[in-house]
Amino acid sequence: MDFSKVVTQRRAVNFFDPNKDVPDTLLRQVINMAALTPSSFNLQPWQLIALRDEKDKLRLQKLAMNQPKVSEAPVTLIVLADRSGYKDENPFVERAFHEMIKAGSVTESSRAWFSKARGSLYGKSMESEMAFACKNTGFFAMALMLAAKSLGLDTHPMDGFDHDGVKKEFNIPDRYWIPLLIAVGYFDESKDLAAPKWRKTADEILVRFDEL
Ligand SMILES: Cc1cc2nc3c(=O)[nH]c(=O)nc-3n(C[C@H](O)[C@H](O)[C@H](O)COP(=O)(O)O)c2cc1C
Repeated sequence: MDFSKVVTQRRAVNFFDPNKDVPDTLLRQVINMAALTPSSFNLQPWQLIALRDEKDKLRLQKLAMNQPKVSEAPVTLIVLADRSGYKDENPFVERAFHEMIKAGSVTESSRAWFSKARGSLYGKSMESEMAFACKNTGFFAMALMLAAKSLGLDTHPMDGFDHDGVKKEFNIPDRYWIPLLIAVGYFDESKDLAAPKWRKTADEILVRFDEL
């Protein structure tokens, strides 16, 4: 699908076709496409919990303002942003460093520099740690929704949920923040799709704060 079509045809759909499943291979294809998302030092601080089981989706729905799409979609994803994804002890940090050595962009002697750079950029405060985790994971989530659309799937992002309740219910370790949930499936064509929503224009988006 042409990219401009992907962008314009992606919508937050409220109704999913109950008769159309999302095969695991297709879901994995979407995730592998989204995995191409760029991230700070290529640290990729994101994980997903994919819920397919009706009972699991209903457990989530109860904590998500009872939004029916949470259980009506064949798959609902809990998107996790790893706040520890820049720390020395995180296994993906070691992997990232190892891959950088393999690619020839650094040597083992850069280990201390790499650690200090990560710590000073992302470990200054809770706020910087959260920003690191959520900005990178937000890019990933957007890529995932566009990848899904490009493969004919529809999605619905949601942040209307009890964050701490979901963490507790699904036993999610404390290092993760949940920026959003994403329902994935096929739009139920028997329902009406809401009219396209308004968007800011480029003129409204472009700003300066340093002019008299
Ligand atoms: C991070 C995020 C959280 C959202 N949370 C909800 C939600 O909890 N419930 C809901 O009905 N829509 C939710 N939305 C959908 C937005 O309302 C929707 O994307 C927006 O109105 C634009 O519509 P469109 O995606 O169809 O273009 C969310 C969207 C984003 C990006």
